[in-house]
Amino acid sequence: MFSTEGFSSNYSLLYHTHEPTRIIRAEEPIDLSPVAATSNILKHRCLKGFNVQPEAEYLKSRKIVLFNNDVQVTLAAPTAGLPENTFYKNADADEVLFIHEGTGVLKTQYGQLPFSYGDYVVVPRGTIYQICFDTPDNRLFIVESFSPITFPKRYLSKYGQLLEHSPVCERDIRKPQDLETFDISGSFLIQVKKKGLLYPIWYGNHPFDVVGWDGCEYPYILSIHDFEPITGRVHQPPPVHQTFDAHNFVICSFVPRLYDYHPQAIPAPYNHSNIDSDEVLYYVDGDFMSRKHVERGMITLHPAGIPHGPHPGTVEKSIGAKETKELAVMVDTFHPLKLTMDAMGIEDDQYIKSWL
Ligand SMILES: [Fe+2]
Repeated sequence: MFSTEGFSSNYSLLYHTHEPTRIIRAEEPIDLSPVAATSNILKHRCLKGFNVQPEAEYLKSRKIVLFNNDVQVTLAAPTAGLPENTFYKNADADEVLFIHEGTGVLKTQYGQLPFSYGDYVVVPRGTIYQICFDTPDNRLFIVESFSPITFPKRYLSKYGQLLEHSPVCERDIRKPQDLETFDISGSFLIQVKKKGLLYPIWYGNHPFDVVGWDGCEYPYILSIHDFEPITGRVHQPPPVHQTFDAHNFVICSFVPRLYDYHPQAIPAPYNHSNIDSDEVLYYVDGDFMSRKHVERGMITLHPAGIPHGPHPGTVEKSIGAKETKELAVMVDTFHPLKLTMDAMGIEDDQYIKSWL
């Protein structure tokens, strides 16, 4: 039985060949907790995400750049997955692995999830996984959520089905497939993350000794390319882009779409002061109409408390434009985010003057 929120929420039953409890060794944990590199939270930030250096091993490659008590935003450029007979379990947080570059497979007790460009790989907390990449060229944008990642309530029926006006539907959800059962004894290391510490725990049986499972708690993939944009005659507010919901933050998808089609519409967004929300935008691909000097893999952070908006000239340039090819992921948090040293190391500190 794998259950969440005690035994009061979603669960799955996994039918193991052996007991999942057979620990043969455990060592002291190492501390991976993010540390704030500055107390200045009222500054527009720009991080050059592709300046994060590639690292050979998946767990070491993960660099937390922004964090608060609800969410951690991580960049990673792993050249390889996890070593043989090594597994990872985030016991703290649901993980959303957004695949910017690279292809591979997430291997879990529930089966395999092949991933590629544009996939949101949603991994509920507690899922034991291995990750394998096809080539060394991988770029991931990872969101760790300390509350369950769900679909927005307004898109769900009272019984949980995605409604017709939802930008995603059940057909877009890719479930684990090709379950392989490993009835092998030996030494299997599970790196378990709990309260920011990484605990190495060795088990006597392969954790993927499951012959079958059923239930509602399992990893899945949703592609950003399957997100159907909501457009209108006049400007639609940012919540139309919302893809996932969590406690005190949301994840949104900005995808290629038609612009507002009122004859006098101004496609560029308004200047805005979203006073209760830090806005993190991760630029994936395409042309970003409201921004200048945008690079792939760039992150902007526009904190709650000071306004931001289109760069000079972009409003005029947007008039008459019919569509955008932009692709971006947004994380809006309801409490301020802090920056780590890894974030400061890739910051463009001239960004605050980019509206001049
Ligand atoms: Fe904004």
